[in-house]
Amino acid sequence: MRQDFGAKPWSYPQPVWIIASYDEDGNADAMNAAWTGINDTTQVAMCLSSGHKTVKNILAKKAFTVSMADVKHVVECDYVGIESANKVPDKLAKAGFTVTKSEKVDAPIINELPMAIECTLVSYDPSTGHMVGEIVNVNADESVLADGKIDPKKLQPITFDPVNNTYVALGDVVGNAFKDGAKLK
Ligand SMILES: Cc1cc2nc3c(=O)[nH]c(=O)nc-3n(C[C@H](O)[C@H](O)[C@H](O)COP(=O)(O)O)c2cc1C
Repeated sequence: MRQDFGAKPWSYPQPVWIIASYDEDGNADAMNAAWTGINDTTQVAMCLSSGHKTVKNILAKKAFTVSMADVKHVVECDYVGIESANKVPDKLAKAGFTVTKSEKVDAPIINELPMAIECTLVSYDPSTGHMVGEIVNVNADESVLADGKIDPKKLQPITFDPVNNTYVALGDVVGNAFKDGAKLK
């Protein structure tokens, strides 16, 4: 028997993205965003409420970075999702995060999170919160690389479980994309 749960914003696995931005005075902020994803092959799409300091910053600077939340920084990544720089301007320092300015876009990269997507703003609709960004670059610290490629086992990204409000670590490789299905062709 299957059970219906109604219209819910539920999906597995849901990303946990840490969106970092600068305000007009160059102060860095970051927020947690889980209602997000890759849009086409060159863009990211997110649903961000217009009241967030992050949104004001991105509209001012037309740029942001997206870091993957990881197992080592669960507390810090959750903190930036429950505190606003509207109220606590030194929120990032309280989280224990430090930043380096991206060389590609006018936004900070969080040093402690080893993989980031650097983006420019494409569009934002304040009525729906729908924001689209253009991917300018992806960078990753060499500590999470194997044979020159990003290794999820080293990166240890977490996912958001929207049903139980928990963070879940990614598991094992169980197949090869664009390949295993060929057995059934
Ligand atoms: C797990 C989690 C997921 C979240 N996802 C989103 C999201 O997708 N969109 C959004 O607008 N806010 C989301 N939030 C809330 C923001 O991260 C939060 O309001 C934050 O304090 C905004 O910070 P700021 O005002 O400094 O930008 C999420 C929070 C958590 C803990």
